Amino acid sequence: MTLSQSLQNDTASLQEEKPVLRIWGRSSLKGNVSISGAKNSALVLMTGALLASDACQLRNIPDLADIESMGKILSALGVKLQRNNDGLTIDASHIAKTEAPYELVSQLRASFFALGPLLARTGVAKMPLPGGCAIGARPVELHVRGLQKMGAEVYIEHGIVNAFARRLKGAHIYLDYPSVGATETLMMAAALAEGQTILENAAQEPEVIDLADFCNAMGARIQGAGSTTIVIDGVPKLHGVDYTIIPDRIEAGTFLVAGAITQSEITVSNVVPEHLFAAIAKLKDIGVGVVQEDRNVLRVVPGMLYHGTDIETLPYPGFPTDMQALFMSLLTLCEGNSVITETVFENRLGHVPELIRMGAHIKVKGNHAVIRGVPFLSGAPVSGTDLRASAALVVAALAAEGQTTISGLQYLDRGYENIEAKLRGLGARVERIQGQSSPALVGVS
Ligand code: UD1
Repeated sequence: MTLSQSLQNDTASLQEEKPVLRIWGRSSLKGNVSISGAKNSALVLMTGALLASDACQLRNIPDLADIESMGKILSALGVKLQRNNDGLTIDASHIAKTEAPYELVSQLRASFFALGPLLARTGVAKMPLPGGCAIGARPVELHVRGLQKMGAEVYIEHGIVNAFARRLKGAHIYLDYPSVGATETLMMAAALAEGQTILENAAQEPEVIDLADFCNAMGARIQGAGSTTIVIDGVPKLHGVDYTIIPDRIEAGTFLVAGAITQSEITVSNVVPEHLFAAIAKLKDIGVGVVQEDRNVLRVVPGMLYHGTDIETLPYPGFPTDMQALFMSLLTLCEGNSVITETVFENRLGHVPELIRMGAHIKVKGNHAVIRGVPFLSGAPVSGTDLRASAALVVAALAAEGQTTISGLQYLDRGYENIEAKLRGLGARVERIQGQSSPALVGVS
């Protein structure tokens, strides 16, 4: 095969497989967008359903690739799942297997969080290590050490975390870092343990509270979720429940930034405004008005001039790492200099080179990005490197002059339900092009 034939084949296979999103920027947005259920809550509540001895109905489950993957993992354990109009029924009354398949777990880190409930419910759990990912190493030693403190025997062999415990015992556990996943894993495990567990330096994210509310509705006794100390009194058994998941605060933040960056007045409904406190504070620093119209509706009121601001990502209630990339897109168009410091994940600046392709002025040193505002961005072929990096490119494209073609949609689709329909509903010019080439794809090949 000649080189040109081989390149043609490569390009053709990329054309076949990879859809791209094409966005024509600079349209003003208007109207309302309704936010879907929280992906990160939905994923962990799905693992939480393993704790119940009968079926749970979860409502407000977003239709996402990650939810699909988690469903496959639970099915592989022998759990019965059924999608219905209102959500998802998960029946874990019978758990046939205690080992999750590597191919599925490696695609979805959150599936590792099933370790705690599976162990608590069956006495055995074998979970492949989730491995690294684009945004950093993401270790799991806090999950493992916490379960060991609760009396589990845990060893890692051939890349698999093997955990055994006849019945877990309550323990006093201090987390070195307020990890969301470790807090959730241990809270679920403790719900069925014997005696009292106290988690110190626990994560305070709204998704942790949602999980505690879900478990308590199933009959668990968890207090203090949302603070740094969570106290769990174990019970012998949990029952099925009908539960509605909270709205997705990161999706809500994405649309607030979309309104701000396009200087558009839009409303974002089905949100919990308190969950967005840090993001709203930063929008206001920049010069964007955010008004609460109703209990669960926010209105973006664009200002005349936007100023740069500094942002440091932190565990909740600090500024969320999941909104760092989105705010970077906005800051590229704000007057003056801004500094973003990413403290949660060590490798979460993959969107920087892509934003630079669009005309942004950004310099990275270690975990700091210094952004000097430019008057405009211009459309370009770009590629998303992870979920939120892809979303950042979408909002940048909405503001950019001309046409932007975004590839790497497998990331975007993990976390945004119907994103192009939602954007089109606000008046954006967005098109998903199935299996067609984009300059980015050809360039990459
Ligand atoms: C969750 C969210 C993710 C979000 C992140 C931080 C889900 C499904 N995902 O991920 O979207 O970006 O919280 O808000 O809810 N760490 C350790 N050892 C451990 C566990 C974590 O060192 O055993 C470190 C991680 O490497 C990272 C930091 O803790 O640097 C935060 O990670 P963590 O809060 O655990 O994130 P996840 O729960 O994986």
